[in-house]
Amino acid sequence: MKGKALALAALLFCCAFLCGCEPKQQAEEPALVLGFSQLGSESSFRIGNTKDIEEKAKTYGVSLMMDNANQKQENQINAIRRFIAYRVDVIAFSPIVEEGWDNVLNEARQAGIPVILVDRTIKTEDESLYLSQIGADFYEEGVMAARYLMRKADALQRDTLHIVEITGTENSTPMKQRHDGFWDTVAGDPRMVLLESVNGDFLRSRGAESMRYLLEKYGDQIDVIFSHNDEMTMGALPEIEQAGYTPGRDMILISIDAGQEAIDILKAGKINCIVECTPMLGSLLMETALNVKEGREVERVIHPAERVFSDEDDLSALLPRGY
Ligand code: AHR
Repeated sequence: MKGKALALAALLFCCAFLCGCEPKQQAEEPALVLGFSQLGSESSFRIGNTKDIEEKAKTYGVSLMMDNANQKQENQINAIRRFIAYRVDVIAFSPIVEEGWDNVLNEARQAGIPVILVDRTIKTEDESLYLSQIGADFYEEGVMAARYLMRKADALQRDTLHIVEITGTENSTPMKQRHDGFWDTVAGDPRMVLLESVNGDFLRSRGAESMRYLLEKYGDQIDVIFSHNDEMTMGALPEIEQAGYTPGRDMILISIDAGQEAIDILKAGKINCIVECTPMLGSLLMETALNVKEGREVERVIHPAERVFSDEDDLSALLPRGY
């Protein structure tokens, strides 16, 4: 009887051990290990994008190795090399500029690690160095900004609008494509006259500097400010006010991103139009990375849906933006 009881106890212990360990091991096993190189923290878009990717990695059971490159391509290349050395399952990164990635991406390929681009894209001789790009259609954002301005010119019955442009980081995809989308669209419209295009590097401080320079040079000749992101727009706004102009009335302001702070300023009438650039790319990234790991086909280019917010709309029911 004593022997039987001992045998039963041993059996129960084994069952408890097996049942207790196995499901726990499964729960702790990540669906995949993803190395992600974020380019920096220059804007509310970027901070929102980092946060969304971190949150969605948890939701999808992905183990995330996140590195912030502080606005330096060299730091992004070093981070990608660390991900290769660690042998992550998938590498993703938001390239700060378009050129200069072929060597490190060849190293990833030699190590058999697939690559996904997030937000921006790259210029390469070998398109097979990455599988997919998940990010906004920046050209279309420029087109939407231009279409708003053409409608505004109609509404104001203006013969001429003198435009200054504050662009984002030199040689970055959004800088190039927003510029092209905007100017291609207004090209046939004789009312649209460019005064000058200056580089503000997507930074609030550089937006302020650029605006000071433009106001000193052109003063009240300026009718329109087309700024490539909210951060630079918010740097420009106090400069316009200090120079004695009322933004949104004396000068038309067009921005891109549509973060909460800029939307509040749009509602207050000091920005006229903001084209959305959504940083909420985390779910698309996790789903694509999981598909890649499972060897499933993925789409080459994935654009999230985006819209325009302007003084033409009733924004009273707009939900919090989340960035
Ligand atoms: O690449 C997207 C751009 O980068 C956003 O519009 C800008 O705010 C960010 O810095």
